[in-house]
Amino acid sequence: MNISLLGPEERPDKLKICESLAQLHQEGAPQDLISHMGNDFLKNFFYPGVLASRSAVTLGLWDGKTLVGFVSATWNWMALLLDLATHQPIRALVYALTCLLMRPKNAVDLAQGLRLTLPKTPDLSAEILMISISPPFRGKRHGQELLQAIHQELSRRGHFFCVARVREENQEAILMYQNEKYLPSGRIEYRGRSWIWMIRNCHEK
Ligand SMILES: CC(C)(COP(=O)(O)OP(=O)(O)OC[C@H]1O[C@@H](n2cnc3c(N)ncnc32)[C@H](O)[C@@H]1OP(=O)(O)O)[C@@H](O)C(=O)NCCC(=O)NCCS
Repeated sequence: MNISLLGPEERPDKLKICESLAQLHQEGAPQDLISHMGNDFLKNFFYPGVLASRSAVTLGLWDGKTLVGFVSATWNWMALLLDLATHQPIRALVYALTCLLMRPKNAVDLAQGLRLTLPKTPDLSAEILMISISPPFRGKRHGQELLQAIHQELSRRGHFFCVARVREENQEAILMYQNEKYLPSGRIEYRGRSWIWMIRNCHEK
């Protein structure tokens, strides 16, 4: 098993990587708002944009040539959203209109989520966008390894804090973050559920 940086450079296997990221995202968080946007959105728009963005970093966990886990973080949501919009402007417009017209509740949820999240990543801190391990590979400390690797990467890039927003019911993830020295730092109500903000210093081993 090894961990490597994904993007932003063009890779010949980028399409396949985005397909795996989409699958891991949907397996890990099927109820997530972004998962509800569908596989095409994740595979062809969201992850290609995240990998190309200069405001986000993604690390992949590989079993040989198979991507079996990943973690993504951003230190500037506003810049990431702009990158997503400018990377594929036509697709961005189509998805925005589809969301507004076909799923107005999702659009309202998204707006509320961004209002909660945007001010929380002012470059000094970074937020975990997603961490997911393929089910057969869970429980083998790979989640913790990915977190440790992303802390090092964020610290190397000059960020001080790493924050994660976790659903209160997701005890596996909360325990994983606590094992990695994250402290609960607040609770928010969003989409009818409670979410816990957790935070840690990126420099600490
Ligand atoms: C959360 C997730 C990334 C953990 O990955 P993992 O590789 O299975 O976790 P690890 O083996 O590194 O476990 C680290 C710690 O997390 C906790 N943990 C992980 N899975 C657990 C489980 N099923 N039950 C209880 N605790 C668990 C434990 O405290 C564990 O440490 P321990 O083994 O010393 O007790 C993985 O379960 C996953 O992909 N879940 C779906 C996606 C998700 O919820 N992501 C979080 C979004 S914020």
